[in-house]
Amino acid sequence: MKAVIVYESMFGATREVAQAIAAGLLSAASIATVTVINVNQASETIAAGADLLIVGGPTHVHGMSRPESRAEAVKWADDPERTLTLEPEAPGTGVREWLESLAESTGARGAAFDTRADFPRILSGAASNAIHKALGKHGYTEVVPAESFLVSKDGPLESGEHDRAQAWGQQIVASLETSARSH
Ligand SMILES: Cc1cc2nc3c(=O)[nH]c(=O)nc-3n(C[C@H](O)[C@H](O)[C@H](O)COP(=O)(O)O)c2cc1C
Repeated sequence: MKAVIVYESMFGATREVAQAIAAGLLSAASIATVTVINVNQASETIAAGADLLIVGGPTHVHGMSRPESRAEAVKWADDPERTLTLEPEAPGTGVREWLESLAESTGARGAAFDTRADFPRILSGAASNAIHKALGKHGYTEVVPAESFLVSKDGPLESGEHDRAQAWGQQIVASLETSARSH
């Protein structure tokens, strides 16, 4: 089984989650390859031939980032009051734009995640809702419900979230294996 993880990340938190999910996937023998790729390096066809496509991004203004919110994030990184470092691959496109050009899938599975601030979800919003909808619109069948991973006020993931992301990867494989057995 071939898995592709496409992520967007301004300050590194969503990249770290993507890498932890990949480690979780790779702990299962049924996953042959996992490609983890920044959205700025992901071609429109990277997902072609993948059995599983996982897409994640940071929550900006309650949803997926836009050019304006990414420009704001660049300003945050320049602000000495904040301890944020811009990812070298960050400036550019986002998962919103990448998903718009995603080719229709026939039969692949999909899963969505995001990172967001540690507030009640009703206040924070969650980019993964919109990512989940976009994957469905392009023919991907949900393998597990969309998930959020929490970042602290200063930028990095909250403690325990790295491990929870790895466990989420394992949960995805378990769900794929269960559905394969029942077919
Ligand atoms: C312009 C901007 C808007 C944001 N809006 C929200 C928001 O509405 N809700 C939220 O929970 N977090 C919000 N955040 C915090 C981001 O979710 C956080 O920076 C992100 O999860 C970090 O992931 P990254 O390091 O991969 O970019 C915002 C961040 C930026 C830069």
